[in-house]
Amino acid sequence: MSISNINSFAGLLLFLFVVSISGCKKEGKKENSVEPAYELVIPEGFPQPEIPADNQLTSERVALGKMLFFDPILSADSSVSCGSCHHPAIAFSDMSAVSSGVNGHLGSRNTMPLINLAWFDSFMWDGGIPSLELQVLAPVTNHLEMNLPLEEAIARLKKHPVYPSLFKKAYNREPDDFSLFRAIAAYERTLISGNSRYDQYFYQKKEIFSESEINGMNLFFSDRLHCASCHSGINFTNGTFQNTGLYVVYPDHGRYLITGDESDKGKFKVPTLRNVELTGPYMHDGSIATLEEVLEHYLRGGKFNTNKSPHVHYHEESLTDQEKKDVINFLKTLTDTSFVNTHKKR
Ligand code: HEC
Ligand code: HEC
Repeated sequence: MSISNINSFAGLLLFLFVVSISGCKKEGKKENSVEPAYELVIPEGFPQPEIPADNQLTSERVALGKMLFFDPILSADSSVSCGSCHHPAIAFSDMSAVSSGVNGHLGSRNTMPLINLAWFDSFMWDGGIPSLELQVLAPVTNHLEMNLPLEEAIARLKKHPVYPSLFKKAYNREPDDFSLFRAIAAYERTLISGNSRYDQYFYQKKEIFSESEINGMNLFFSDRLHCASCHSGINFTNGTFQNTGLYVVYPDHGRYLITGDESDKGKFKVPTLRNVELTGPYMHDGSIATLEEVLEHYLRGGKFNTNKSPHVHYHEESLTDQEKKDVINFLKTLTDTSFVNTHKKR
């Protein structure tokens, strides 16, 4: 699987680069700002996210992006939408280890959840895409996912009975790559999760944690487990790329595919742990089924790998069964039912 994937991935990156350059040129054009502005509700404890100047949020843009996100019109045989892999009821992730695109083709990576993307500055497991706008191109044109050439996607939208007027209202232009990418990115920036029980306890100062959850939290942040040396900050990720010793030889080289640096082999983006109870199976290839097994992986210290982080190591003094339960119970406090319920409604 990997060789052909890597080739097409390298091709995609080149294409992205070209599109990003042409995108920059277009940013110079005068843009009509469209009212009314869409007010993001920023959770307590979160900083204001940076919204690109050429894609300020408006209700029209967000509504158009949402419609496109769930519309299979953007796939070759009109069978797959973004929402076919990113399911709102499970924090926009997928239940299979690797998800299937058009004609049931399987990819090689686990679908990432879409949570608080407005605060991220690199996307995909290898961080190869620098903006949400550019990311949209990847799944639409990927032959294993939606497999639709961009020109064909735009042609379909232009012929559609309602899209042209919605694009006009939202971006004051016909459907094109500029407005297609921006509309979907605008919607994605509204997928904000910041009202989990953890948020209520930690940021909103409500005394709602059980003893087990408090123990689990203390273990998670302890020098004994080192979880927070990578899973830190509002999204439980420090935004770096790390090798956790999942394999001796990784079938997917991860960050190395972007940098070409040997020391990046087997490194993947530290994922958010928000809503992690809902987003299994886990890791970049969906190879670990449950949270309990993920924890065992860390306690064993992963497999031998020269690039493995020193923070992932064998624990001579493992956790007691109760302590393991406590850590899992803490991870489950990151589930945000209001986030899921809000976005489940279409
Ligand atoms: C066939 C399943 C599938 C479809 C369809 C799909 N995705 Fe994804 N999505 C994935 C997978 C798998 C990844 C991880 C890809 C990687 O690391 O190479 C991903 C990653 C992402 C990310 C990166 C998230 C992060 O935290 O870095 C975003 C954003 C995203 N997808 C948005 C979309 C949008 C928008 C669409 C529709 C235009 C879409 N996806 C369609 C499977 C899918
Ligand atoms: C050295 C940095 C680092 C440390 C320390 C670390 N993690 Fe991770 N974590 C990662 C990375 C990177 C991944 C993704 C690895 C992959 O896919 O190959 C990950 C994946 C996960 C996942 C799966 C999430 C998903 O969406 O697939 C969970 C759960 C998790 N870690 C919990 C923990 C816990 C609990 C600890 C402490 C015992 C911990 N991590 C320590 C970097 C780290």
